[in-house]
Amino acid sequence: MKIVHVASEIFPYLKTGGLADAVGALAGALADAGHEVSVFMPGYRAAVEHPLAGAAERRLQLRVEMGDMFMSGDVRAFSPRQNLTVYFVCREEFFDRRHPYGTPERDYEDNHHRFIFFCKGVVETLRLAELRADIVHAHDWQAALLPLLLRHAEQRHGATLAMKTVFTVHNLAFQGVFPMRSFYRTNLPGELTGIDGLEFYGQLNMMKGGLLFADRVTTVSPRYAAEIQTSEFGCGLDGVVQTRAGDIVGLLNGLDPAIWNPARDAYLPARYTAADLAGKAACRAELLRRHGLDPGFAGPVFGMVCRVTEQKGVDLVLANADFFRTARVRFILLGTGDPRLLAALRELAAGAPDRVAVAVRQDESMSHLVEAGSDFFLMPSKFEPCGLNQMYSQAYGTIPLVSRVGGLADTVTDLDENPSQGTGLMFPPTAEGLRDGLERALRLHAEPARLAAAQARGMKKDFSWTTAAKAYERLYEEAV
Ligand code: ADP
Ligand code: GLC
Repeated sequence: MKIVHVASEIFPYLKTGGLADAVGALAGALADAGHEVSVFMPGYRAAVEHPLAGAAERRLQLRVEMGDMFMSGDVRAFSPRQNLTVYFVCREEFFDRRHPYGTPERDYEDNHHRFIFFCKGVVETLRLAELRADIVHAHDWQAALLPLLLRHAEQRHGATLAMKTVFTVHNLAFQGVFPMRSFYRTNLPGELTGIDGLEFYGQLNMMKGGLLFADRVTTVSPRYAAEIQTSEFGCGLDGVVQTRAGDIVGLLNGLDPAIWNPARDAYLPARYTAADLAGKAACRAELLRRHGLDPGFAGPVFGMVCRVTEQKGVDLVLANADFFRTARVRFILLGTGDPRLLAALRELAAGAPDRVAVAVRQDESMSHLVEAGSDFFLMPSKFEPCGLNQMYSQAYGTIPLVSRVGGLADTVTDLDENPSQGTGLMFPPTAEGLRDGLERALRLHAEPARLAAAQARGMKKDFSWTTAAKAYERLYEEAV
């Protein structure tokens, strides 16, 4: 099949979170399965400057209708592997910036223009290049206008651009909500400004476009597909999601074994397998040393890598500050995000410099070392559409401590509830819940045989994308 993926981030060109990993790996798995795959993302500065993109083989000039004017842009295309073409939709004014979405303080004020332009640039490229896709698969709000824009362009030009569209929700908490006056930039029919269209409390909601108008809607875990139909997790769109109740499916993300495999991981100072964990001990010592902690420390080491936000339960960690200050443990967090939470984390580290380390930066290499070198990995998320790190943890022989939500509940089995199959510890998404998880982790650490068995089970699990890619293949076939 000809499959087109559209997302605002794709690994390795730009990554702020799991969306990039998921889309990059899914596109690669589908290309490996023999499909003709194209992926589109904005030509952010970091992406255009990426070494793999250096030799962009083809360029296409774009004139994109944006309301009452046309804006120019260009598309750069290259093929990093067989069956895969990467397209960057470029316009300096919009994407040649230091950050993809905004400064650490606030979102860019023209994000509606930037992503309307991006979506329309994709449609225009499909039209000019006569790609004739079987499936156009859009991810999250930045790409959510595509189903509508495609249909509209097809009506206007009398050409089929895509047989069917699929929309995947990676995170319903980010919806792309803007003043309705920016709607005219889409050139879509005026009736779409109503409640059955893109209207959301008087504003323009881009996510709603994907939810209502894609031929198929998916989420990144089965449990999240059910959760977002409730007011607790629906972020105000639960009613809209319910209108798709009959055909929304949750397909679990996988992990890319070419990137996340402790036996081959080039970022690690030592590699290891389930049969021989010596390399993991070396990673652990290196992780502690790199953070100014005693590399010989024998007690439990807790690691965390995340966007520092309330979604990830960083406030729940802070509510348990006394545990990290006083228990015989070490805690290392790598993350960037909310300045208020970061300040509180730095304060925690400053008060217990021999126990707690906080590294505030994006660091792909260190994120691998934290996974490999920790005994326990913390993910006390308030909600989690899928979550990747709990899968990486299991593959790396690190016990995940997760809250019982979304994809976390779908991919981790609690060791106390299911002693013969457990691979992690699960608890409610509250400060007390996390505390209970931490105490249970201490007990587990004191029982090496039980711990080793849980590690071995986790490392044996199959989280590869092959399974997930097959599920998407079936979905595409059914849709077409
Ligand atoms: P989300 O997409 O909600 O942020 P996921 O668990 O799906 O959560 O994916 C997060 C991804 O981003 C993981 O691959 C994680 O290792 C990575 N990540 C998060 N923060 C950092 C950081 N500061 N440095 C490097 N990688 C990070
Ligand atoms: C989102 C979600 C995360 C998911 C990722 C990839 O960023 O927050 O749970 O793993 O998308 O699908």
